[in-house]
Amino acid sequence: MVVDDPAKRAAGVAALDEVRAGMTIGLGTGSTVAYFLDALAADGPSGVRGVPTSEATRRRGEELGLDLLAPDEVDRLDLVVDGADELTPALDLTKGGGGALLREKVVAEMSDGMVVVATPDKVVDRLAESFALPIEVVPFAVGPVRRRLAARGYVVQLRDGHTDNGNVILDARLPGGIEQPGEEATWLSSVAGVAEHGLFIDLAVVALLGRPDGTVTRLEA
Ligand code: 5RP
Repeated sequence: MVVDDPAKRAAGVAALDEVRAGMTIGLGTGSTVAYFLDALAADGPSGVRGVPTSEATRRRGEELGLDLLAPDEVDRLDLVVDGADELTPALDLTKGGGGALLREKVVAEMSDGMVVVATPDKVVDRLAESFALPIEVVPFAVGPVRRRLAARGYVVQLRDGHTDNGNVILDARLPGGIEQPGEEATWLSSVAGVAEHGLFIDLAVVALLGRPDGTVTRLEA
C-alpha cells in the first residue's frame, strides 16, 4: 500500500494551476508527480495531452485514462511537471533517483518551461553532496566511466537493474558537493559512454514546494 504524503500531494496538486486547456505537456516521474497525475485525471482542464518520461508514468497514465503521446508525435511541449531529488535556490537540479533521468531530460528540453514539484527538505546549497548524482551509462562503458569519475574525485556505486533504455546507473557522490554545476554538466556530457547525467541546469523555471500542512511555496528561477 502506498502511504499518503500530504507534502508531496500539496506540491503535485498545486502544479495543476500551471496547466491550461489544450496544452501538450511532459509528465515527469516519481512519487510527487504521481499526485499531479491523479489531479490531472480527476480535475484537469480539457484537451490536455502528455508525453510520459518513463514506462512507470506511461502505465499510470494509461490506467488513469490520460491522453498520451510519444516524443516523436509532437514538436514542442508547453511545460513539463517533474520531481527532483535536490534543488538549489537558483533551480539547478539533481534528478534520477527514480532512474528516469534520460527521458526526463529529453522531455525537459522539449518543453518551454519545467515546473518542479518537491518539498523544502530537498533544497540544498550544493548539489551532489548528500544525494549521489545519478549518471546513466551504456553497459559497455561502465568500467571506463567509473574510472574517469573516480579520478575526478567521485565516490561511485553501481545501482542494481537497468533503466527503461537498457542502460545502468552509477550513483556518484562528490565529497564537498559540486561547486560549478554548469561546468560539471559539460564535463559529464563529454565522457564517452555517459548516456545522460542527472544535473538539470537552466531548465526549471518554477518550483512548487509542498508542506505537510498543505501550504505550497513557489520559487522562480
Ligand atoms: C526520477 C526522478 C524523480 O523526479 C525524483 O527522484 C523525485 O522523486 P520523488 O518525487 O519520488 O521524490 O528524478 O528519475
